[in-house]
Amino acid sequence: MKVIVTGGTGYIGSHTIVDLQENGFEVVCIDNLSRSKIYALEGIEKITGKRPKFYEIDLCDKDATLEVISEHSDAIGIIHFAALKSVYESVGNPLLYYANNLESLLNVLSAIAITGIPNFVFSSSCSVYGNTEQLPVTESTPTSKAESPYAHTKQMGEEIIQNIQKIASSKSILLRYFNPIGAHPSAEIGEIPIGKPDNLVPYITQSAIGKLGPITVYGNDYPTRDGSCIRDYIHVSDIAHAHTLALQYLLEGRNESNCPVFNLGTGNGVSVLEVIAAFEKTAQKKLDYKIGDRRPGDVVAIYADNQKAKSELNWNCKYTLDDSMLSAWKWELKMQQLNL
Ligand code: WQD
Repeated sequence: MKVIVTGGTGYIGSHTIVDLQENGFEVVCIDNLSRSKIYALEGIEKITGKRPKFYEIDLCDKDATLEVISEHSDAIGIIHFAALKSVYESVGNPLLYYANNLESLLNVLSAIAITGIPNFVFSSSCSVYGNTEQLPVTESTPTSKAESPYAHTKQMGEEIIQNIQKIASSKSILLRYFNPIGAHPSAEIGEIPIGKPDNLVPYITQSAIGKLGPITVYGNDYPTRDGSCIRDYIHVSDIAHAHTLALQYLLEGRNESNCPVFNLGTGNGVSVLEVIAAFEKTAQKKLDYKIGDRRPGDVVAIYADNQKAKSELNWNCKYTLDDSMLSAWKWELKMQQLNL
């Protein structure tokens, strides 16, 4: 069975392609390489022995998008990762995020309507919940005002898909990722930040290896147990496997609605300072950090109630925070060897 993966050379996309291929799916990968490196295909092949068919296409190009998806209209599904994803960057460059994330989504949805590809998996985000007092969040926790344009594009994306699904014969599934971290245990693939990373864990590993200076903790005056923000950090391979299970859930017709939503988090809230301590413990390396101002766009705390994904997708988290820290560090060391 063939699956089209957009954003497939990216961080979560590449890990999901590994999981799909290991579960017998044939994968077609589409990416414009604006925020990823072609190396990801080599890493995928090293792990699974199979290199996915690859098209370097910008999904904001409607004709090119329709052409490539029509070429593979026999696919049983499309998993749509391709999007810009930095909360911080989106605050400073909202138009880039609205144009890129919405245009590419609309072009993929148009291609699905024309080709009749039956299943669509949308890469959504816990950032759709905004700042909420109701923690842990369940899939029915009301979303509040998006704290960043990035989060807003994910809220709008979900609403667009839900409205289309009211009349479409296809099926969609919205997967709300919490904070993906870590790397494949083989250290053959992982996150390859382009330029200075905005995200905490790649910043930590680059600081630990000496590529960057001290880490800045963006605020320690939040109303949390240690004053720093709380997130639900989940191993990227656990998120990847959920995509395979989500496709199987749709293929087997187990979905109760034709646009179900699932939280993909561990259920544990962890603070920035606790992540730093976990890295120091597992990598046996002291980190240099300082306390700075709060970062615009950040929510105070967010972590998941993941019972629905556990029961309906038969999904479970395999990896711990320490596993994620160690795999992130192993991957940083590998990137140095590969000169990535
Ligand atoms: C986490 C915490 C920062 C860097 C991510 C993804 C987004 C979405 C949600 C999937 C915050 C603090 C960070 C640093 C710091 N995931 N921090 N110093 O903003 O939660 O968003 O998860 O869709 O796509 O980007 O992740 O890693 O940027 O920040 O103190 O140098 O770490 O303030 O509290 P975020 P992050």
